[in-house]
Amino acid sequence: MEIFNENLSETWPKRYGTEAPASSHPLDRFLTHRSVRKYSGKPIEPELRELLFAAAQSAATSSNLSAWSAVVVDDPDQREKLAKLVGNQSQVREAAIFLAFLADHAKLSASAKSHGESPAGLEAVEMLLVSAIDAALAAERLVCAAESIGIGSCYIGSLRNDPAGVAEVLQLPHGTFGLFGLCLGYPDPSAPPSVKPRMQQVEVFHQDVYPDGWDPSDYNRRMSEFYLEEGMKGDVTWTMRSGKRVTLPGLNGRDTLLAALQKQGFALL
Ligand SMILES: Cc1cc2nc3c(=O)[nH]c(=O)nc-3n(C[C@H](O)[C@H](O)[C@H](O)COP(=O)(O)O)c2cc1C
Repeated sequence: MEIFNENLSETWPKRYGTEAPASSHPLDRFLTHRSVRKYSGKPIEPELRELLFAAAQSAATSSNLSAWSAVVVDDPDQREKLAKLVGNQSQVREAAIFLAFLADHAKLSASAKSHGESPAGLEAVEMLLVSAIDAALAAERLVCAAESIGIGSCYIGSLRNDPAGVAEVLQLPHGTFGLFGLCLGYPDPSAPPSVKPRMQQVEVFHQDVYPDGWDPSDYNRRMSEFYLEEGMKGDVTWTMRSGKRVTLPGLNGRDTLLAALQKQGFALL
């Protein structure tokens, strides 16, 4: 099966457990996403890399500030160091391209200073959100572009497991912070990942105001079916798993991020 090529009639039932509203549609490819953690080894040529990066930079950016940047890590030794810092996730070693997306206030700070302005506003939580949102928008545009030509991706939130270690390996200056990693590569055809269920639209897109209550039974049931298909325990439900993930131990040490952010000049006010 060639992934990222399916039409609505294949992806919609997997997302929602219901029949697709049409067998195919020009938007087909936007429903084909799944994280890809095993790659074929085929390289992504420099010309294509340049186009993919242009797609990322074409994302909207708050007030045209471009408050993000990314370190593209090609050096195998650097990859190895990062793979270890993110809990030995092999996709970081094996991806054709690995990027560390940064909140980047360094250029903005220099711009303000060059005109005699104080860049103290960069220390506000607001500006951390601006750069994190900008970086996420750019990364996801890159992912959509990549998937449209058959390249898979996997985000690496574990880049935040050890912010000091990441800052040291990537030599990050004050005013920058490693937000998340992104692996890109052509999928290994022998291990195609499945399209994962999402909640029903009425559970996510609220009409005019936020509703009272929420019944997780539909999503728990469909995710349990998915876990069983993937060889995981079906009786450990999505609410059980997500509930554990949001405990303090479930944050895997990331409950101490504030100090690491403040050391780099973020979220001080
Ligand atoms: C910001 C972010 C960080 C993530 N971090 C990791 C990670 O460190 N390792 C990993 O294997 N997957 C990671 N993922 C992938 C999610 O687990 C995945 O998107 C989710 O389970 C839904 O599955 P799907 O992408 O296949 O639809 C991350 C996703 C996002 C958006």
